Amino acid sequence: MLTGSTVGLRARHEEDFPVLRAELYNDVVRSSRADSRPWRPVAPGSTDSRLTVDDEDEESVKFSVVELAGGTLVGSAVLWGIDNHNRGAHLGLSLLPASRGKGYGTDVVAVLCHYGFVVRGLRRLQIETLSDNTAMLRAAERNGFVREGVLRSSAWVMGEFLDEVLLGLLAREWRPDPKA
Ligand SMILES: CC(C)(COP(=O)(O)OP(=O)(O)OC[C@H]1O[C@@H](n2cnc3c(N)ncnc32)[C@H](O)[C@@H]1OP(=O)(O)O)[C@@H](O)C(=O)NCCC(=O)NCCS
Repeated sequence: MLTGSTVGLRARHEEDFPVLRAELYNDVVRSSRADSRPWRPVAPGSTDSRLTVDDEDEESVKFSVVELAGGTLVGSAVLWGIDNHNRGAHLGLSLLPASRGKGYGTDVVAVLCHYGFVVRGLRRLQIETLSDNTAMLRAAERNGFVREGVLRSSAWVMGEFLDEVLLGLLAREWRPDPKA
């Protein structure tokens, strides 16, 4: 398991699926804001890639996020779009509603950076998030990500086009402890 100061990132366990499906994925509005693909129902036992883990997929690594104290499941995290030629990847994370606003998101970003830069030897990590997602923007910036641009009207979310912010962090800029 990869550990931060408050959370751990471990493999996705069978018992995580119903919780993630019910508390994250089945919230259509939240799901549509956090995933650029169109929402559709995913049945229990489905192999839909939104929830399952494909061990053959070299381009993404999915984690379940747990509290270090007690091991309770608090969300999911992913390193996706892993490009071993250009040595970059994208970060994604979603916490269960009751676990937001406690500093876990900032810690998850720190652990994903450790995984991307140290374990995988990547040189550049990237995050795309809706421009009104203050918590995600702050969690990224706390870890040293800088805003590199605005993707205007790039996301169709529940009836409207919204802007996304593109944030990037290079290995040489990264400091393992999130900064104020
Ligand atoms: C986005 C998300 C991962 C952030 O994680 P979090 O644990 O809630 O955030 P943190 O507690 O680490 O807070 C990070 C910063 O955002 C601020 N913040 C937290 N929740 C906030 C909110 N609802 N509104 C405004 N600011 C907020 C915190 O005060 C903190 O700011 P600081 O660094 O200046 O102290 C989490 O809220 C989440 O899962 N949201 C739903 C899914 C989602 O949007 N995922 C991202 C898709 S790209």
